[in-house]
Amino acid sequence: MADLSREELDGIYAFAVNLGKEAGRMLMDAAQLRFGDERPKEKEHVEKENAVDLVTQTDEDVEAFIKDQITKKYPLHKFIGEETYSKGASRDYLIGNEPTWCVDPLDGTVNYIHLFPMFCVSIGFIVNGKATIGVVYAPFLNQLFSACSGRGAWLNETQQLPLVRNPIPPMPAKAPAGCVFSCEWGKDRKDRPDSNLHRKVESFVNMAAEIGGRNGRGGMVHGMRCLGSATLDLAYTAMGSFDIWWEGGCWEWDVAAGIAILSEAGGLVTTANPPENEATAPVEEVKLGSRLYLAIRPAGPSPTETGREGQ
Ligand code: IPD
Repeated sequence: MADLSREELDGIYAFAVNLGKEAGRMLMDAAQLRFGDERPKEKEHVEKENAVDLVTQTDEDVEAFIKDQITKKYPLHKFIGEETYSKGASRDYLIGNEPTWCVDPLDGTVNYIHLFPMFCVSIGFIVNGKATIGVVYAPFLNQLFSACSGRGAWLNETQQLPLVRNPIPPMPAKAPAGCVFSCEWGKDRKDRPDSNLHRKVESFVNMAAEIGGRNGRGGMVHGMRCLGSATLDLAYTAMGSFDIWWEGGCWEWDVAAGIAILSEAGGLVTTANPPENEATAPVEEVKLGSRLYLAIRPAGPSPTETGREGQ
């Protein structure tokens, strides 16, 4: 078991926040180069495992930068990055007990290619298998989400999450009328071009109707969103903007930072499908390495009100 002192963890957290800011600036600079007025609106990218699994030079450059900075500062820590793995590294990236950085240099690559602003750098730090530090920076939106175990979850280092306070627990009995759900197309679509999206939507709608009918509040959800970035889905669930996010097919680097942020904000991430009733409601925390994730927003008092120590 890795044992890090509070002081060491705080130092790693500060380093990760600065690294996220620098990497985010790289993403912005690269976006301006690609899409600036002087240049044609290029959409260069390379396909990885299939026609929707894409990588750009920016993903690779930013990952190389982050990896280099981490390796210099913490040579004994393990590093897992999306692009390193995709280039054919063996599966020894799997999460163990040792301190491990888990990085997606550009989450929302498809958005980035189409210049849809929902893209970010995502830096997670895992200790003893638990997502302990998360930094997610979406430079186009000027939103920096960060969290470290025991230090709260923050937006732009000043506003503690959740921002949207809803005292009603989102699952299972009191939900989904009035909820906003989020799920993704994903990119594991070899056999099904539609990514089973219609099934996810149907499940949410049925769950809303069933639960809403039972508690007499009707079964109308406020809406569904597909952002195109699993990390930002988790960050917005931590913020309280999304009530539930559900996705199958994500890798550790898609979720490690976001899980740290949501957990620290008081939300829950679990390995499950949305429950049909209270008896099937998820209670256990997620184990990283699963590919199925259900995230539930924080409910009840904010961490500040429960007296957690701030940053
Ligand atoms: C993808 C995005 C997408 C999610 C996929 C991820 P990438 O990451 O987060 O929303 O559905 O599962 O792999 O390729 O943009 O880094």
